[in-house]
Amino acid sequence: MGEVVHEFENSEFTMLSKSRTIHWGILGTGLIAREFAEGLRSLPDAQLLAVGSRKLVTAQEFSRQLNIPRAYGSYEELVADQDIDVVYIATPHIRHKEDCILCLQAGKAVLCEKPFTVNAQEARDVIAIAREKQLFCMEAMWMRFMPLIQTVQQMIHNGSIGEVRMLTADFGYPAKYNPENRFFNLKLGGGALLDRGVYPLSLAFQLLGLPSQVVSQASIGQTGVDEQVAILLGYPQGQLAILSTTLRSQTSNEAVIIGTRGQIRIHAPFFKPYKLSVSKFPEDSASFISASQSSGLKQRLLSSAKQSKLLKRLYLNFNSLAFPFLGKQGKNIVQLYDGNGYNYEAAEVIQCIKNGKIESKIMPLDETLKIMETMDNIRSQWNLKYPHE
Ligand SMILES: NC(=O)c1ccc[n+]([C@@H]2O[C@H](COP(=O)([O-])OP(=O)(O)OC[C@H]3O[C@@H](n4cnc5c(N)ncnc54)[C@H](OP(=O)(O)O)[C@@H]3O)[C@@H](O)[C@H]2O)c1
Repeated sequence: MGEVVHEFENSEFTMLSKSRTIHWGILGTGLIAREFAEGLRSLPDAQLLAVGSRKLVTAQEFSRQLNIPRAYGSYEELVADQDIDVVYIATPHIRHKEDCILCLQAGKAVLCEKPFTVNAQEARDVIAIAREKQLFCMEAMWMRFMPLIQTVQQMIHNGSIGEVRMLTADFGYPAKYNPENRFFNLKLGGGALLDRGVYPLSLAFQLLGLPSQVVSQASIGQTGVDEQVAILLGYPQGQLAILSTTLRSQTSNEAVIIGTRGQIRIHAPFFKPYKLSVSKFPEDSASFISASQSSGLKQRLLSSAKQSKLLKRLYLNFNSLAFPFLGKQGKNIVQLYDGNGYNYEAAEVIQCIKNGKIESKIMPLDETLKIMETMDNIRSQWNLKYPHE
């Protein structure tokens, strides 16, 4: 992205034995903390050593249920544990900056849930401390580390669908309505964009890079948060990304990447994927019927079909005749993931730490920052500010 190149290595960490176990602490005991704890179990070189909660009884209950040796009744006590190498932060977005800084100041590497922070300035503050202290730090954008997403990136790199021209992706499930919960409460950083929109945005950054134009529209609900969001991104070479997200209804939760020679559909849920379909345009472009030609032909067939049984049958098969790349030349690829999927991002953290790296090349901090800046830009288009901003 034409940015300053940052030092990705930390010589102190390079001294660590590559075979040693990496000890994890978890900060927060909510829904995703539990999932992540399960995910860590499938990694032989990870041990979940401790959990920290705002209340000791909550930490103790969590540690008992998940068989975690140590439980702390405050986040400060967790980060003071000398045996912990890295802390996974699973608190509401609004706390991410403060919790990241707490860990980094205590000398811990950090894996912080998405969105990395609430806004770009908070992200800059965290990144500056991580770099100053030469400690590993990464946004927990777990989607990027899923095997199928890696396959998609490889297929695009190999030119399987030609040059990527367009991306569509949406993330929508109804969230249980409660004005106090982290989805709908403005004070907790609520809203669809930060919670869900960050996934299609991150995919767009991964596949298309930095957009040159950003246009957005949102539906703001009774609690003041964005309940539905549509985003249009434009790129210098004319590519487009059409993204949407909602807290209120179920969408397709698919991503479709359209290239000059074919398309890849990442089946739902695209952010935790296991299946894609790839369809290629015919090699011989002369055999390809253009959209305008096909629409004229479709109309003529339709009126003729009213008079002929044979043509009626032909019309019914029309789509597969005119668009063979959508059916007969397509293929499905199923790539199942190990564990519950959260293990892949954790494995990346472990690899980076063992190799003395302070950033992941798959989810670098500069890109996290650009995504946060884009979300600031999007929110500014509908004048949404959080109370602490
Ligand atoms: N990667 C994913 O798939 C995924 C999925 C869901 C959520 N997330 C992200 O993970 C973060 C947490 O989400 P979640 O669904 O796990 O949330 P959650 O169930 O509400 O849990 C959040 C935890 O944070 C702690 N906390 C600290 N201050 C809090 C406050 N003021 N209000 C409520 N909880 C507070 C609590 O733990 P203690 O009481 O023990 O301190 C609580 O259990 C969010 O940033 C979210 O975007 C990621």
